[in-house]
Amino acid sequence: MISGGSQERRGPAAAGAAPCSSQAGAVGGLDLGGGWGYAPSVESLRPPIRGEYGFFIDGKWRGAAEGKTFASLNPATGQGLAMVGEAGAEEVDLAVAAARRAYEGEWSRMSGGERGKYLFRIARLIQEKALELAVLETMDGGKPIRESRDVDLPLVAAHFFYYAGWADKLGYAFPGRRPRPVGVVGQIIPWNFPLLMLAWKVAPALACGNTVVLKAAETTPLTALHFARICEEAGLPDGVVNILTGAGATGEALVRHPGVDKIAFTGSTEVGKQIAAAVAGSAKRLTLELGGKGANVVFADAPLDQAVEGIVQGIYLNAGQVCCAGSRLLVEESVHDVVVGKLRDRLATLRVGDPLDKNTDVGAINSAAQLAKIRSLVASGVAEGAELFQAPGALPEQGFFFSPGFFTQVTPSHRIAREEIFGPVLSILTFRTPQEAAERANNTCYGLSAGIWTDKGGKMFQLAQQIKAGVIWANTYNKFDPTSPFGGYKESGFGREGGRQGLADYVVLE
Ligand code: NAI
Ligand code: MG
Repeated sequence: MISGGSQERRGPAAAGAAPCSSQAGAVGGLDLGGGWGYAPSVESLRPPIRGEYGFFIDGKWRGAAEGKTFASLNPATGQGLAMVGEAGAEEVDLAVAAARRAYEGEWSRMSGGERGKYLFRIARLIQEKALELAVLETMDGGKPIRESRDVDLPLVAAHFFYYAGWADKLGYAFPGRRPRPVGVVGQIIPWNFPLLMLAWKVAPALACGNTVVLKAAETTPLTALHFARICEEAGLPDGVVNILTGAGATGEALVRHPGVDKIAFTGSTEVGKQIAAAVAGSAKRLTLELGGKGANVVFADAPLDQAVEGIVQGIYLNAGQVCCAGSRLLVEESVHDVVVGKLRDRLATLRVGDPLDKNTDVGAINSAAQLAKIRSLVASGVAEGAELFQAPGALPEQGFFFSPGFFTQVTPSHRIAREEIFGPVLSILTFRTPQEAAERANNTCYGLSAGIWTDKGGKMFQLAQQIKAGVIWANTYNKFDPTSPFGGYKESGFGREGGRQGLADYVVLE
């Protein structure tokens, strides 16, 4: 079980009954009786990670086949955390069959109000276990605890609460139409926001009456497996949510399975294209949320100190391993030197290191492979003539780390201006007129996100209309909300997640 305190509780009535019992148990040892003492720190809270995990299929745990297991590492140490299974065709088949039975059984016929109760219950359990899930997310993926605790987990719970509220109101979401569920949904998620991407996909799917087979990313499977425990604890009917682990081959088997009615994928543009080719010609529905090269546009009239904070938030959140990262800074030429100077000063204050330390700003890179990709793209930037500045300070000796930095002297043809580095490195370009800002912002094969910093509302609206991106932040960056749709244009994919729009891909309208 995830936590000691809530082991016995199962089923609707019990799920919300004992507030915070799990956390109280997990931080046991706190002496409230005599004298004053420090509360245990987050770093000392070790979630109960099991040595081995199987697959969650049809409400039961099933071990992996002999020799079909692999380790998920803690990228901050390079050490193994747990062994997980690599699902093959057989497990994918079992999971899809279970999801089909659950769909045709009670789930698709249940009233929206009843489905909503399960989602509310899951949301409450996530809140109750938020701290240990945050620690688990940080240990398995390397992101700073400050982010997993204050950004990821609150958003995960908020997504379940939000879509729980829609479950009995689908008729209002699509006035004059009769929405019905799509059926069995295959969902494939990446490693940069593991539990949040699960929430973005599972919550709307269940709210609309679909059942789910989800494959977690190979480097960050643990929170999805602990989410399966939450489904058990919430008493979710067997087979409504099935969780598989494995790498690309498992994902591909799920994509190609004839029993799946829809695929929802978040990950690289390259794999997104392969998936689009694989489902082409079939009746499967598809949504893709892929890469990005977000432009963060700073005008000379912007409040520059705030803009610098927004630039930092835009590119160093989760060490830049964010599809909507503001990875191309477009700064008005007249303030280029001022902004670069402020950014250099700010970079010197960023703390890079142990992701479990609550003072850490930039944690570990998710995997050795991702670190190698960052290094190679950064090397290409240097080789092509851009100038690299990196934060001073030593990196931890163990684990996968990269010093946050930025490039100046970047031209639009450089690889670092066109390709996703997916790491804590910003490419800085300049512009002279709003028209040039729009042209440069759109000079990309992607269209996921952008930011605009200016004091002038009219300029803001005008540029926002011209930039082809799914999300445009005004005088802020990387802010997320379950009520707000998120998704891309061009090679950033299609379909929307979040908001009322996020329901549309999980229903058939009659
Ligand atoms: P990836 O696209 O290979 O992995 C994402 C998910 O897709 C994982 O669960 C993976 O197991 C699965 N997958 C891989 N091949 C598949 C296939 N043929 N069919 C079905 N599922 C498959 O991303 P990867 O290799 O981990 O990262 C490579 C680059 O992709 C990163 O450097 C970054 O630029 C980008 N990326 C973008 C993300 C985003 O949020 N848009 C998330 C992760 C990576
Ligand atoms: Mg891991």
